[in-house]
Amino acid sequence: MAAEVLRGLSLPAKSIPPKYFYDAQGSRLFDVITKLPGYYLTRVETEILRDNQELIARRVGAGTCLVEYGSGSSVKSRLLIDACLPAAYVPVDISREHLEHSARAIFDRYPGLAVYPTCADYTSPFELPLPVAGLPRLAFFPGSSIGNFEPNAAGDFLRGVAQVVDAGGWLVVGVDAKKDRDVLDRAYTDMGGITEQFNKNLLANINNALGADFDLTGFRHLAVYNEGAGRIEMYLVSACEQRVSVAGTEVAFAKGERLHTENSYKYAPEEFGAIAEQSGFECVDVLLDDRAYFMVFLLRVR
Ligand code: AVJ
Repeated sequence: MAAEVLRGLSLPAKSIPPKYFYDAQGSRLFDVITKLPGYYLTRVETEILRDNQELIARRVGAGTCLVEYGSGSSVKSRLLIDACLPAAYVPVDISREHLEHSARAIFDRYPGLAVYPTCADYTSPFELPLPVAGLPRLAFFPGSSIGNFEPNAAGDFLRGVAQVVDAGGWLVVGVDAKKDRDVLDRAYTDMGGITEQFNKNLLANINNALGADFDLTGFRHLAVYNEGAGRIEMYLVSACEQRVSVAGTEVAFAKGERLHTENSYKYAPEEFGAIAEQSGFECVDVLLDDRAYFMVFLLRVR
């Protein structure tokens, strides 16, 4: 983490990977975001999954090992577990406390389901627990977290998932759709300042984990839709000229200087379908809500 954060802070355009949002507090703040009136993503994706439980079950079949990338609170996982009756569930998350708490709740709710919480950063390769070796695989990557990758990196990531899942296996992936700028702006800047707290929690996490001294009041939240690139960009903007010490290194910020904290790519259905097809998958179904705000792709490994 220290090496990655210091590398990002030494670039001419400073940036830090969004996975560092998710310490225990960041995971809690994200859960609050998912309930905000303007943050349609979670609600719409849940509705799509609920409306298509039978279809998904018919495609995937029972007795799989369900591997969830970035399981968070494991709320949407329940819809897949109820529909598909997997034999095992492997929630993968970077935030250990949150993972253990959510995995325990699933374990208590589904007697007979083997649960193997796996604390890992899914942007790097990780090992699946040994007992699931022989089971057919169902990967689940909800929430449009795939939008955090650059499109090329999303393809690389999908190729890795295809290897984990193996020929004939499935990936259910949630992807946010391109839409009206106003709707996107309201999803990424809320009047109550929760998204701002979430964004600034990146600095709090770095303070705690690396002994840094970021002053959270010295930065402002900024989220902008870059329509040409098809992505929401989140920044923390330095409110003044300041120096911060990070893991023993001094980092200078000019007044107004931006620290890039997240990209959240939005796709047209055919754009994401093409990336999936180029990455070893067959696009079997694209499930949408009535307004086409969000998409759930059912992909099968070729
Ligand atoms: C968890 C990456 C899907 O991009 O919408 C929410 C994170 N950032 N509000 C998103 C997020 C600001 C979220 N993902």
